[in-house]
This record gives sequence, C-alpha cells and structure tokens, in this order.
Amino acid sequence: MCGITGYVGSRPAVETAIRNLKRLEYRGYDSAGVAYPAPAGVRIVKAAGKIAQLEASVQDQPMEAQVAIAHTRWATHGSPSQANAHPHPDCRGDLAVVHNGIIENYAELRARLRAAGHQFQSETDTEALAHLIEERLPEGEPTPQIFLEAVRQALREVRGSYAIAVISRFLGNAVVVARKDSPLVIGLGEAENFLASDIPAVMAYTRRVLILEDGDCALIEPDRVTISGLDGRLRTRNALHVDWDDQAAEKGGFPHFMLKEIYEEPRTVRDTLRGRLLADDRVTLPDVGFTAEQWARIRRVSIVACGTAYHAGLVGKRLLEQLLHRPVEAAVASEFRYSDPLVDPETLTLLISQSGETADTLAAMREAKRRGSPTLAIVNVVGSTLAREADAVLYTQAGPEIGVASTKAYLAQLTALTLLALYLAQNAGMPEEDRRRYVAALRALPEQIEACLSLSERIEAISAELAAMSCFFYLGRGYDYATAHEAALKLKEISYIHAEAYAAGEMKHGPLALIEPEVAVIGLCTQPATHEKMVSNLQEVKARQGTVLALLREDVPAPDTADYLIRIPATLDALSPILAMVPLQLLAYYVARQRGCPIDQPRNLAKSVTVE
Ligand code: F6R
Repeated sequence: MCGITGYVGSRPAVETAIRNLKRLEYRGYDSAGVAYPAPAGVRIVKAAGKIAQLEASVQDQPMEAQVAIAHTRWATHGSPSQANAHPHPDCRGDLAVVHNGIIENYAELRARLRAAGHQFQSETDTEALAHLIEERLPEGEPTPQIFLEAVRQALREVRGSYAIAVISRFLGNAVVVARKDSPLVIGLGEAENFLASDIPAVMAYTRRVLILEDGDCALIEPDRVTISGLDGRLRTRNALHVDWDDQAAEKGGFPHFMLKEIYEEPRTVRDTLRGRLLADDRVTLPDVGFTAEQWARIRRVSIVACGTAYHAGLVGKRLLEQLLHRPVEAAVASEFRYSDPLVDPETLTLLISQSGETADTLAAMREAKRRGSPTLAIVNVVGSTLAREADAVLYTQAGPEIGVASTKAYLAQLTALTLLALYLAQNAGMPEEDRRRYVAALRALPEQIEACLSLSERIEAISAELAAMSCFFYLGRGYDYATAHEAALKLKEISYIHAEAYAAGEMKHGPLALIEPEVAVIGLCTQPATHEKMVSNLQEVKARQGTVLALLREDVPAPDTADYLIRIPATLDALSPILAMVPLQLLAYYVARQRGCPIDQPRNLAKSVTVE
C-alpha cells in the first residue's frame, strides 16, 4: 500500500516527513513526493522511483517549513509516473492532498469538476479530491475551521476508502487528516505532532499514538489534535503506548510479513470487491477496458499462470465452467508457451500474476496474442509488464506482498476470478436469483475471513504436533482438490516438508501405500455433495494409521476418524476455496515457525521469477 507521513512542529518539517517516509519503504512503492507551505500557496516536489530521488530533488529548495506531508505511491489508478505521484494540488496551488485508498466515484467526480472548469494534471483518483475541496472552499481567506469544514463536505461526496492528509496556505502550521477503511495514526510529541499511515513511521520520535477510526477527521497543530466526525461533532480517541522494537514495527507488530499479510486478507478481499458490486447486485468491471463487442466475442477461456497464481486458475477453471457451462482450460505458463496452444480470436486468454513480471506468464501472453487471442491479465502490480502489454487488466487490490510465499494475493486472485465469472455469466443471462446469491456470499466474505483468522491459536497448537511429520498429503474433491494444490505448495515452500495434493478418490490407486503414522493427511471437506465420499477416504487413511486433520464447514457432522478438526464458516461451494485457504496458510506458517524456518525468505526462492 501507499505510505503517508506528515509533521507539524519546530523541526525541519520536510526532512522529518521524508525521514519517516523511509521507514515505510520496505512496503514497496513506485514514486514519492512531499508538500509544504510556501509564501504564495503550497510547494510540491515529486519524483518517480525511490525516496533517494525525492531527497535529491528537494535539496535545492529553501526549507524552513514547519509543516509537511509526504507520500510513497504504489499505483492503483494511473501508471507509476512523476505526474501521478502524490501530493496533488488544486487548480490554484492553495492546497495539496496525499491519499491512500481508492475513490470509487472518481470518474464521475472528475467529469463534474472538469465541466466546472477544473484542470487536472494527473490520471489519479486522488486529484479529484483536491479539486473537490477547492470547490467547497468559500471565496476569500477561509480560517482553518472553515477549511476543515470544506474537507468534510468534500469527503461526504466521496465513495470508497481513504486516509488523507491535506495542507493549505489557509491552515498555517496545521494539517487536516481523515480516514475511512484505510489506516491513519497520529504520533503525539511535545509541541510537535506526527502523522502516518502506519505506526512504524512515527516511532523514531514518539511512542504515544492516536489511532484514528473510520469517519474521523482531525486538525493537527503542534500543540493540539482536535478530532471530529464528518458531521463536525467532536470525538475523543485515547492515546496508546507502543513498545514494539524496530523490526516488529516494520511488520506492524507481527513476527513475519507472511503472518501480517494473512491478517490483511479481509481488507484485501474487501478492496478487490470495492466498486465492482452495484447496489442492485450486478457486477461491474468498468476498469477492465474491453468493449461490449470484445466481451461478446468470447466463446472459450484459457487460463495461464505459474505457481500460486496457477492454483488460483485451477479454482477459476471450475468456477467459470460452472457458471458459463463451457469448457475452460488451465495451464502452467511454462507448458502453455511450448505447446501448440488452442487459442484463437474467440478464446479469452486469462493471465494471472501477482507481480506481473513472471517471465513464463509474459511469454505465454505474447504467444496468445500472436495467435489472435484477446488477453486479460488479473494482476496486482499496476504498471507491471503484464499490465502494460495485456489487452485488458483486472487489478487485484492486495497491495504490496512482501513475504515470498503468496497469501493475500491468492485470495485477491480468487475474488477477482469470481467477479469475472459472475460478470461473464451475467452477460450470458445468469438468472437474477443465482447472481444475487453469489453477490451476497461475496459481500459476506471479509467477515467470514475474520472468523477463519480467529482460529489462529488453535491452528498454532495443532501445528506444534504436526511439525515433526515426514510428509503431508492434502486430499480433496472438486473445488477442494484445487485448494489442496495451493495448500501443499504453501507448506512445502516455507517448511521444507514434502507435501503433495491428491484427488481424494485416487489415493487407493497407489499413494495409500505411503500412509503411516508420520504421514499427515489433511482432508479438505468443504463440498457438501462429496462430503460422505471424503469421510470414507479419510477412514481409509485412518485404517492405515495415518494422522488425519479434517477441514470442514461448520454445518456438517464431524467424521469420527479425524485426529484434528478445523471448522470454517459455510459459504457457496465455489467460494469455499477462499475461506479454506486461510487456516491452511496459517497451518503452513505455524509448522514452518515450529521448525525454525526463515519464513519470509525461504531458501532457493525469489518473490518475482523473471527468468524462464
Ligand atoms: C508461491 C508463489 C509463487 C508465485 C509464482 C507466480 O507462494 O508465490 O508460486 O505464485 O512465482 O508469481 P506471479 O504471481 O508474480 O506471476
């Protein structure tokens, strides 16, 4: 995610804000910028690339400012470039805004503001907010209170998520901030205050922090912080004392990025759904960029990806087949490119990738294009090669993923695939009642993922007993078989225990010979239609003294053969891979931790595989 910092007080503000911004560098970004008050308005300095470039650019600027806001951007709307970097000004250069989050109705706001004469300099959703605040300012020289009210009015017109910080020549030595669905904290000092999107960014100066809540606005001055709601009523937030060490702080208090990213999954799914489900429960994909004719020409779908993204594709294959009643292929990219792929102008080639830079996936996309197939990339990194070269892009909104083992990006990919499948099915005349059932189930996911995360302690206890196993089998049928592939990959890559996914019905055709007490068998039983069959398969394992863990929906009876049980909330069959993966990621994580493995950087692996 993007990073925000800011400062008010008697230190050199620009230097302080940039120094704090560096503490958020580990999260990844593509450009950076800073703004501070200048005699005739605000001065903004921005640079594409690293913070070091920004520092070089501010060196020749006079810097007596005692207020500054700064930002690292991880592109969501518009390519990574200097123009799209934050802060963004209004037309007159009276104010500057930094923003994390997504403004869903930005296109509508932008069109309206343009028609009213506002000039835009970037492609970002954030800039609409700067102009909207300008629009709400009365003529003349507003007081800080009137300026704050203009920000509140502007925010009342915004749909989406935001953490924002605004400076203006009308505010003097103060910053206005606000949040909804995006974190923002205020670090409290002596006659100085700090703001940031994350606690680590203020920790060099203070351990006393105020954590803003959704709907909070604040006027931050050196000696006081005044919090109010969007309705102007005053609110009180209690300060917390943070005693993390520096390393824990980078990871938001979690011991590893992987665990932090698993805990970000409710938000990831919420952000990926954001703006794509209409009030009448129809799905909209306005950012994808295919015309109605291009969508209508699609007869077949061929999914291509690597590793975890390919496993998302295995779920996607079933889902698309189920909703479209058409055959769908799923291939690993390194095989697709060297085969004679059966794609043509009527086949949508769907590429899935977190990084958008995986060499085999890129080569597969180019091969599909050579064959005249329209290409659609489900990708996380805006401006990545895949995003630039594919004919259309459906972005996942997972934010930067730092742990080498992919977790939240996988859930975002499954969410995006579900949206795509529903969109295509809706265009093909899916009955309204069915669509509404899916959309209701999608909307329920973030809370259900929270429920899965609450199993963490129990899974940690089970992991302590399973960490000494010599081998893991993950068994499933249907959607659970697809999930089994990803669960096995997660365990093997971070714990170094051999793990294999098997179609549950295939065990007795060979692998049952391997079962003994040191072999753990994880039975995935989330599909009611095959539940009894799965229970029989687990009985076959138990009869050979295997150690059995069953993962079940909360509304089905427990098999009496399981040594351990994990229960997850009930959802539609097609969405169960999203919920089931959360405890399975936690299981892999805790087993690896028991074994003392370097979880965030497993041996021999890289986050982005840019060679064949
Ligand atoms: C496993 C993992 C890899 C990636 C694969 C594709 O946890 O992360 O298997 O999924 O290398 O990477 P992307 O999605 O960047 O194309």
